[in-house]
Amino acid sequence: MTPLKSDALVLFGATGDLAHKKIFPSLYSMVRRGMLDVPVVGVAFDDWTLDQLIERARDGIEKDKGSVDDKVFKKLAGLLRYVSGDYRDSSTFVRLREALEGAGRPLHYLAIPPSMFETVVQGLQQSDCATGARLMVEKPFGRDLSSAQWLNRILHLAFDEKSIFRIDHYLGKEAVQNLLYFRFANSYLEPIWNRNYVESVQVTMAEDFGVQGRGHFYDEVGCIRDVIENHLMNVLVILAMEAPAGDFDAGLIDEKVKIFKAIRPLDVHDVVRGQFEGYLDEPGVAKDSQVETFAAVRLFVDSWRWQGVPFYIRAGKNLPVHATEVVVRLHRPPLDAFGEHLDGQSNYVRFRLSPEVAIAIGSRKKAPGEAMKGEQFELIARDDVKDEMEPYDRLIGDALDGDDSLFTRQDASEIAWRIVDPILGDKVPVHPYKPGTWGPKEALKDIVPPHGWINPKP
Ligand code: BG6
Repeated sequence: MTPLKSDALVLFGATGDLAHKKIFPSLYSMVRRGMLDVPVVGVAFDDWTLDQLIERARDGIEKDKGSVDDKVFKKLAGLLRYVSGDYRDSSTFVRLREALEGAGRPLHYLAIPPSMFETVVQGLQQSDCATGARLMVEKPFGRDLSSAQWLNRILHLAFDEKSIFRIDHYLGKEAVQNLLYFRFANSYLEPIWNRNYVESVQVTMAEDFGVQGRGHFYDEVGCIRDVIENHLMNVLVILAMEAPAGDFDAGLIDEKVKIFKAIRPLDVHDVVRGQFEGYLDEPGVAKDSQVETFAAVRLFVDSWRWQGVPFYIRAGKNLPVHATEVVVRLHRPPLDAFGEHLDGQSNYVRFRLSPEVAIAIGSRKKAPGEAMKGEQFELIARDDVKDEMEPYDRLIGDALDGDDSLFTRQDASEIAWRIVDPILGDKVPVHPYKPGTWGPKEALKDIVPPHGWINPKP
């Protein structure tokens, strides 16, 4: 049965940073594409007028898109309402009820710190705004397994699991969708996509900038919680999962959960943490912070297909380039037929996920000339996606439609924490690294894929 569409969008945290930078630009794009025509009720503590909120939305859209089409913006502004108030005050929710003007299936989007979730969920329940409604929540979804379990309990007080949409914007990225599509819409990868052919898998998310003024947030989170436990683990799961039998969309989450369950919890020997020099001087960062801005981890998937194949993930701030890539490296040919003593640097499939989308096959080919000597080359297919749909456009649209296939279900959210829980905090020492390098070189000696990391090019 097709789920009913939501008939209003309620945005908690409407005056905040995320709304300004990501959500309003997405709502604008959705209006432009004809995907949004329900009232959008902003809620926040700030004592603003609706006009102020509209101005703020326009500013965010202008900064993100470079320009604003007045006709499209007028339509979006026409959908906006604003309720200002304290989330602890029941009258805020009474006013929200009124602003909903009878909408019976709103989607409540909590773009607010998780510490406020309980108060807002209670307010929604007591004011009867939760009945028939959906709830969308932003990451970070907890800080560890027990806090994620606690949060889930809170959400379930007023919403059943089917109505909860835990957002991980990585799952809404075109390139990540393509990874899933590419694996299962072609048949030639399947015969080699297993422990018999794959030597290792590496996922790199490199950012060539620091914490960009988010020191206070980042210092409470760190790289493992910020991007590994969610974004990059989800990429790994897409690489490793089986194709759902029967209805693909309906079986997708179950198949993902099977892989999450098969990933061995991390051991302290499978992790290296780094911190870029200068991090401690960032505003909002504790002077003696031990929080990592870089991490590399080695994971194992205990399944029939992947037993013994190491999966590496590394991510960091202030690295040499800004790019996210996956490299699936195959075993070497059984014989060194041409006596070249190759080091295994060829023989891989590389998926570039950002900033642009590309798929490359790293191979050897014969170098021109008399000798049977080779050279390395890459066969690259680049996808110049025009007018790409931003992850938030896709995910907000899906949640309004009640399509949960790209969201994180309760079991997946908790299992992902179970995997990283053993290495959170200060259990693994943090090593300094120079900005613009690939992390703490010395310490990284133990966490290196066979035949080395392949660094993304700028
Ligand atoms: C966010 C993290 O979730 O993802 C940021 O909090 C990170 O630290 C960002 O920079 C990366 O996302 P994207 O879409 O820019 O690759």
